[in-house]
Formats: sequence, C-alpha cells, structure tokens
Amino acid sequence: MKQTVEQNFELPPESVIFGSSEAMRRVQRDLSLIATADVPVLIQGASGTGKEIIAKLVHKASPLSKGPYVKVNCPAIPDALLESELFGYEKGAFTGAYNSKPGLIALADRGTLFLDEIGELSMGLQSKLLQVLQDGKFCRIGAQEDTVSEARVICATNRDLKREIAAGTFREDLFYRVNVVNVSLPALRERSADIPELAEYFREHFNMMYNRKTPSLSASLMRVLQAYHWPGNIRQLENLIKRYVILGTEACISTDLAEPAPNTFDFEMPQEGPVPLKKITNQAVRRLEREIILKVLQAHHWNRRRAAEALKISYRALLYKIRDAGLSPNRTPVRSMPVETAATAPPAEPEPEDAGGVVTPLTQVAKVSNA
Ligand SMILES: Nc1ncnc2c1ncn2[C@@H]1O[C@H](COP(=O)(O)OP(=O)(O)OP(=O)(O)O)[C@@H](O)[C@H]1O
Ligand SMILES: [Mg+2]
Repeated sequence: MKQTVEQNFELPPESVIFGSSEAMRRVQRDLSLIATADVPVLIQGASGTGKEIIAKLVHKASPLSKGPYVKVNCPAIPDALLESELFGYEKGAFTGAYNSKPGLIALADRGTLFLDEIGELSMGLQSKLLQVLQDGKFCRIGAQEDTVSEARVICATNRDLKREIAAGTFREDLFYRVNVVNVSLPALRERSADIPELAEYFREHFNMMYNRKTPSLSASLMRVLQAYHWPGNIRQLENLIKRYVILGTEACISTDLAEPAPNTFDFEMPQEGPVPLKKITNQAVRRLEREIILKVLQAHHWNRRRAAEALKISYRALLYKIRDAGLSPNRTPVRSMPVETAATAPPAEPEPEDAGGVVTPLTQVAKVSNA
C-alpha cells in the first residue's frame, strides 16, 4: 500500500507484540516513555520485524491517537509524485493539477505521519522534509503561503542510516531530526523465546479468519521453529502459520524450515556440566569461515584460484578447507571429496596455516567478509 489515512485499526495485544524477550522488553520500556512525548521517532529493524506495528502502537498510545494515522511508503511512489502527494498542490500548479489538493503532511495534522523506508527518499525530498520537521511549516506546490501541520513524525527504515550518511546518500542533519528517539527492533531469531506465543496468536487469528479449527503446533515442530533463522522475521512466521491453518497439516510447512541457517551459531546453554569456551568458539568460527568461503566461491563461480586470491589464502589451503567443510557447488554437504575438487586437488595435507586446525581469528574473518 503506497499511502493510507487510517483512524481506527486493530493491533495484536501488547503481550504478543512485546513477548518476554529482553530486547523487546527494552523496546516496551522505551515506548512507554516516548509515546506521550511529541518527538520524532526513528524505528529501525530488518524487514518483517514489526516496524509498522510499532509505529501504530506509538500512535495509539499518544495523545494524538484520536487524530489520523497517515502512512507514506516512500519508495513506492516516484519522486515528483511523492513531492506533490506529501506537500499537496494548488490548482494549476502543474499540468494536470485541475484542482488543489492537500498533501499527506496536512492530512496528518494533529495525528501521526508515518514515513516508511525513509532511507529511500531522494536528497531533494530529504531537504524539503527537513524544513517541515524544523517548524511544521511547508508550502503546497504553487502556493504563495506556508501551511502549518502539527503532525508527529515517525520514520522507519531497514537501512543503516549512519552508513548511508557516510556514503553521502542520507543527510546527516535530517538523521538527527528524525532520530530524536530511536527504537531498534531485534530479528526474530534473537527473540526465539517469543515464537510460541506469536505462533499461537497467528494460529488463532487465522483460524478465525478462515473459519478453521487447526490445532496448536506440536512441541517438536515448535522446537524447530525456535531453532530456525527466520530471514523474513515475523512476517515469514505469520505467513507460515497462515499456510498451516489453511492446509491443516504440519507436514506442509516443515519442509520450509529445513534450510540451514547462514552465518549463525546457535549456542545452546547445557542444563549442567562445563561450557568449554575454546571449543565452542572454535566451532562458531569454523561455521562462520565455512559461510564466508562459500559466499566467495559463489561470487567467483566456483573458480577456486580466484576465490583463494580474494580470500588471501593459498590455493592449496582453500582446497583443504573446501574439503574439510564439505562444501560443493550445489551447497549440499559432501562426505567424500567433490569430483571437481578431486580432479585438481593436491594431497590432502594442510598448508602450514591450517596446521593443527587453528581457526582464523575473527578480525581477519571480518576483513575477508568486507572485501
Ligand atoms: N510483534 C508482533 N506481533 C504480532 N504480529 C506482528 C508483530 N510484528 C509484526 N507483526 C506482523 O508481521 C508482519 C510484518 O510486520 P510489519 O509490517 O510491521 O514489519 P516491517 O518491519 O514494517 O516490515 P517491512 O520492513 O518489510 O516493511 C505484519 O503482518 C504484522 O502484522
Ligand atoms: Mg514496513
């Protein structure tokens, strides 16, 4: 949806929105303090983490809750059109402006203006928005006088705006304007304790919506859900449960969850006994190294000489690592040496840098991944 003006909307209960994970409890505490203060809020988080839900919640909890909630999806509208949508225009301001039209900023007066994906705004619109944020004044296209809007602005982005500033694509002064209060939403895999409650909420919701009686998920599938890495976050979980409710069997969703997690290391705290730090860290680094090597190989179309150059390790060392990690071009772990590796691989003894299974330090690993 590009832009909407809403007055009343339903939200999940706060117990579901925040769950019990520490990261979300912190968000809840911050929101309880900022909702009533009329300051801009910047909500950051990966896709599907619930940025819009939080924006709506802030609106509902604020003194402006009786006013309109206006959502603008910045990247969905071409730049010139977005300007006229935001600021409005006077009759005859440009070809096709047969009547004057109030902009979305004016429509959000005494309500909330939610600018979704603000990181996508052009530099030109960024400077115009900055002016609005400074004093609430703006000028309709073609108008002689300023209009004032008392809208509370909430912005959301899944980009790292500090990085965008460094790259020269986001204005630093606008960042400080919109970032008076910052809410950072965790990825779903970082709040896996909340998955059962979210899943149950979605199940009941879709059972009602589709008039079904699909039962609760089994404990074993729930454990799988909690171990999964959720690249699409809550939206992916929501869609998965929707499919489960409609199709009615666990089998139809369990295959979706078979894909292994990239770049993650699920450390499970044992109930009792020692937690050997060195061993666990080595395992984690090996997992990370495997993912990095795989990505570099894929980027070089499995040309191992070029991949070795990029990774700044010897060709022999790379062949050893490929075999050691069980990597193959189709990504399935292999038990024996892949045929193409076998054809060119030297004897399996490791290069000196591999001796003793010493893992690459994380600092070096990070350098490789940034290269
Ligand atoms: N805490 C939550 N409790 C219940 N449902 C949630 C929660 N967070 C998100 N959802 C649901 O998950 C879906 C994605 O949420 P939302 O659109 O707010 O995410 P987003 O961060 O804005 O995603 P995107 O970056 O892709 O726009 C929505 O359908 C929303 O209703
Ligand atoms: Mg969104």
